[in-house]
Parts: sequence; C-alpha cells; structure tokens
Amino acid sequence: MTVMPSLRLSPQDAEDVASYLVTLKKQEPSSYADASFMDDPNLKDEGKKWVRHFGCAGCHEISGLEEEGRIGTELTIEGSKPIERLDFALFTEIAQRGGTEPITDPDDLARLPEGPAKQPWYDQKGFFEHKLAEPNIWDKGKDKPETEKLRMPNLHLTKEQIRALTTFLLGSQENPLPPNYQYRPLDYRRDIQEGWWVIKKYNCMGCHQLIPGQKTSLMGMARYKDAQEQLPPKLLTEGARVDPEWLQRFLKNPSLSTTDTNRNGVRSYLQVRMPTFSFSENELGKLVRFFQALARQPFPYIPEEVPVLTAKETEMARSLFSSTAAPCLKCHATGDPTHDRFATAPNFLQARGRLKPDWMERWMLDPQAIAPGTSMPSGLFKRDNGHWVFSGPTPASFKGYDKDHTKLLVDYILQLTPEEQRRVGAAVGRSSAASGSSSGAKSTGNGGRGAPE
Ligand code: HEC
Ligand code: HEC
Ligand code: HEC
Repeated sequence: MTVMPSLRLSPQDAEDVASYLVTLKKQEPSSYADASFMDDPNLKDEGKKWVRHFGCAGCHEISGLEEEGRIGTELTIEGSKPIERLDFALFTEIAQRGGTEPITDPDDLARLPEGPAKQPWYDQKGFFEHKLAEPNIWDKGKDKPETEKLRMPNLHLTKEQIRALTTFLLGSQENPLPPNYQYRPLDYRRDIQEGWWVIKKYNCMGCHQLIPGQKTSLMGMARYKDAQEQLPPKLLTEGARVDPEWLQRFLKNPSLSTTDTNRNGVRSYLQVRMPTFSFSENELGKLVRFFQALARQPFPYIPEEVPVLTAKETEMARSLFSSTAAPCLKCHATGDPTHDRFATAPNFLQARGRLKPDWMERWMLDPQAIAPGTSMPSGLFKRDNGHWVFSGPTPASFKGYDKDHTKLLVDYILQLTPEEQRRVGAAVGRSSAASGSSSGAKSTGNGGRGAPE
C-alpha cells in the first residue's frame, strides 16, 4: 500500500489541484507504453504466488499478507551453528581440501574478502563469505524445481561489507548476555516501539506533536504563527483522551462519514485536514496500541457506565455549562454554521463514545497541564472540603451537594442531546444579546480565540 494518504478532496478541489499539475506536464499521455497486460486476472494471482514465495512481505507492508512468516533462516545464533548444519552442498569436499574456488562469476569473485579460495575453507567463516558473495552458490550443479531453489537475493555487497557482515555473524553466539541485560520489552514499551515505525513511515509528526516540546512542520509556517488553535491537535495524551475503538474508526476514516467525506470528522472548523491513510489492519492495530501505551493506559479499555442524571442534577449541571464565567458553548462547535465559523474546540455531542470520562475531568481541572498554551480556560474549579467545586457563582440548588462538580459536568456532557444543546445555546445567545452583543455568533467575541477567560 502506498504511503501517500488520501486528502478526501471534493471534485472541485481535485480539479483545481489537477489543473495546476497539468501546467507542469512534460509529455503527452498517448506517448506512454501499452499496459493492456494489467487486465489479465491470472497474472495477478501468479504474481501473488511469487510475492509469497520470495517473502516480499518480510520487508514490505502488504495488505492481506501481514501474517506471512519470514522466509529466511533465523540468524540470532548463526555463529554458534555446528559446521555440520551449514550445508556446503556439492562443495563440501572442495571446501575441506581447498585449492579450488567454486565461484566463477567475476563480479561475485571480486566480493570474496580473501580472494579465490586457496587454503581449505570448510568453516563458518568460509561458508558465510561464500553465501554473501553469491547467495545461490549452494544450488550450483544441482537440478532443482523453481520453488525449491535458494531465495536469498544477491545484494551485490562489497568485500568490505562482507568482511563486516561475516564478523557480525561469527559473533552472533548463543547466550551473549543474560536475559535481564537484553532490551526485549514485552510490556507497553513494545507497543510504543512498534508504533513508532508506523508514525515515522507516515510522517505523522509533520502535523502532530507527539513528544513534549517537539515542533511540527506546520508550527513553523507563517500562517500558524498567531493561530495556534488552527493547528492539528497535540497527541501526547491521545490514548488517555479517547476510546480505542473510536480511535480505530477515526484512523480508518477521519471524516467519520461515508457520504460527507470532504471534511474533518471532529474539528470541522480547521483548515488543515487529517488525511485518510491506507493503513493495513496490522498498522491500525499497532497505532491504536501505540497511543494507549504512550499514555500508559490499560488495554483493552472497558468503558465505565455513565450514571443517568436526575432532573435536578441536570439543571445544576446546565447552570455550570452555561455559566457566564466560562460559557462552554462559546468556543466549542455546535453544528450551527454561523456559530461554528468562530469555533476553536470540538462539538460536545461527539464526546459520548469518544472521550474517556477520567481524561475529561483532568482536562477541565487543568487544561494547561495537558496542552500548554490552549485557550480552554483554567481555574474553573477549586478544591473545597475534599471536592472539586465550581469557582464561579452557583445557584442555590448546589447547597448541600457534596460530590465533585467536575464529575457532574462530565456526566452531563456525556448525555447531552442536540435539543438540550440547542436550548442552552439559544439561552446563552439571548443573554449575550441582552448584554449588548447584536447576535449569537457575535457572542464568540474575538473569533473565539479567547485568551483564557
Ligand atoms: C530486504 C528487504 C526487501 C525485500 C525482501 C523486498 N524488498 Fe522491495 N524494497 C525494499 C526497500 C528497502 C525498498 C525501498 C527502495 C530501496 O531502498 O530500494 C524497496 C522498494 C521496492 C519497490 C519500489 C517501491 C517504490 O514505490 O519506490 C518495489 C516495487 C518493490 N520493492 C517490490 C518488491 C517485491 C515485489 C519484492 C518481492 C519479490 C520485494 N520488493 C522484496 C526492500 C525489500
Ligand atoms: C496534514 C496534517 C496531518 C497529518 C500528516 C496527520 N494528521 Fe492526524 N490530524 C490532523 C488534523 C487536522 C486533525 C483534526 C481532525 C479532526 O478533529 O477531525 C487530526 C487528528 C488526529 C487525531 C485526533 C483524533 C481526536 O480527535 O481525538 C489522531 C489520533 C491523529 N490525527 C492521528 C494521526 C496519525 C497517527 C497520523 C500519521 C499516520 C496523522 N494523524 C497524520 C492532521 C494531520
Ligand atoms: C475560550 C474557549 C473555550 C471555552 C470557553 C471552553 N473551552 Fe473547552 N476547549 C477549548 C479548546 C481550545 C479545547 C481543545 C480543542 C482541541 O483539542 O482541538 C477544548 C477542549 C475541551 C474538551 C475536550 C473536547 C474534545 O472533544 O476532545 C472538553 C471536554 C472541554 N473543552 C470542556 C469544556 C467545558 C466543560 C467548558 C465550560 C466550562 C469549556 N470547555 C469551555 C476551548 C474552550
């Protein structure tokens, strides 16, 4: 599969890009070679057979062939293999006697570090040098069917490379170090290690911050200089933030839609687009485990039951949600196009099934600790009598309520309905109209850029 992702362009976007690319044309399409062989279905199956046989999937990610084993001999302890287990084939005697060199091809001969054999070479060193200089040498003089021939390709190594490789192989001995000195992680560190290969392959770090302090390519661009909230999200705590099943769905199809794909599934208000990559199932699994491991999350994830709020609790939560101290809908998208032109944060209706409640609470308590520089307000809650309580004014109904206000707000958001959100949005819009702003959209102030508070 190609590393080039799909940008899910609309036909118009694609036409514009194509029109531009056509201006760069160097050759007429009719001057390209005939490719009617592409329509022969048998050739494809024949090809797949050879891809398996030659183990292309050992080096290449090929969708559908993830489970193919490696075709080569294990080399971990190659240096301690007894000589009888190295198959010199028809040259066993020649190697023991010395004096005759079985390699005749001049290019391959030039690869032998010691030159053509004079002394006996029936040992590990002689075997490795000959194997690397001409990998199919042990087939010489034998009559084998195509599928039983040696498969290691000739890597066209130099003398110096073969000398170094032979030294490495001779040193690959059993028991080099006790196991506790070897780095073979079996825990979350293995998931991180494997995930990095995928992250590197697709250059995710060109757009996303994955390590504290790491700069992305986008951050260096002039247009984002004073528009941090227009950048793709930082992913340092992504595994703690979202449900892994949701994450897998998102990575597969970041538009989160089968019909309306010309958009970002979550942050529709961003100009930059999360591309659709053609990940194999194997890569998808690795990425999901990678994010969980990076945030030290238990895997698999078992979502907690969200308690259903009573009418009274809903009303209390709503008063926090719409508090003028930090009107939650101010920066967060609602689906209303006029409002969303200024949105800088996701729609709360997407929280259910996506966000982990623990992370939501931590985020509300101290967003700067999770995403330094974010415009999400800090200091919304304070510690009081062993509980987190809202810092702003609260209505009388809170008297005697002895649970965390953060938890109440999280539970409310996780059961928010479109009707409820519309009603709160309309009420907040009215109150800001009353306080002087002329419209609901205006109530998002300075483009929602919102310096904290
Ligand atoms: C030893 C590992 C290895 C094996 C085995 C291998 N390849 Fe490759 N292949 C590579 C590497 C590495 C590249 C990247 C370009 C390069 O370094 O040559 C590559 C590049 C390619 C490319 C060019 C891709 C591009 O877009 O530029 C094709 C096509 C290809 N390999 C096909 C195959 C096929 C088919 C097989 C099996 C018959 C195979 N390879 C076996 C390592 C391998
Ligand atoms: C061209 C820039 C770009 C590249 C490259 C890119 N992303 Fe993204 N990514 C985005 C944008 C923009 C968003 C916000 C999308 C949204 O909210 O719907 C995003 C969102 C995400 C999210 C967050 C989902 C959420 O809302 O919690 C994850 C996870 C993610 N990307 C993973 C990756 C991985 C893994 C790669 C590499 C394979 C990658 N991205 C490459 C731009 C990019
Ligand atoms: C000044 C703007 C602003 C206000 C007001 C605001 N937020 Fe946010 N909020 C943000 C930003 C920015 C983000 C991070 C966006 C991102 O990750 O792309 C965010 C993210 C969140 C998230 C995670 C969203 C997700 O889908 O990943 C939650 C939950 C949240 N805020 C809750 C609240 C609550 C509750 C309130 C009201 C008490 C509130 N916010 C008020 C700007 C704001």
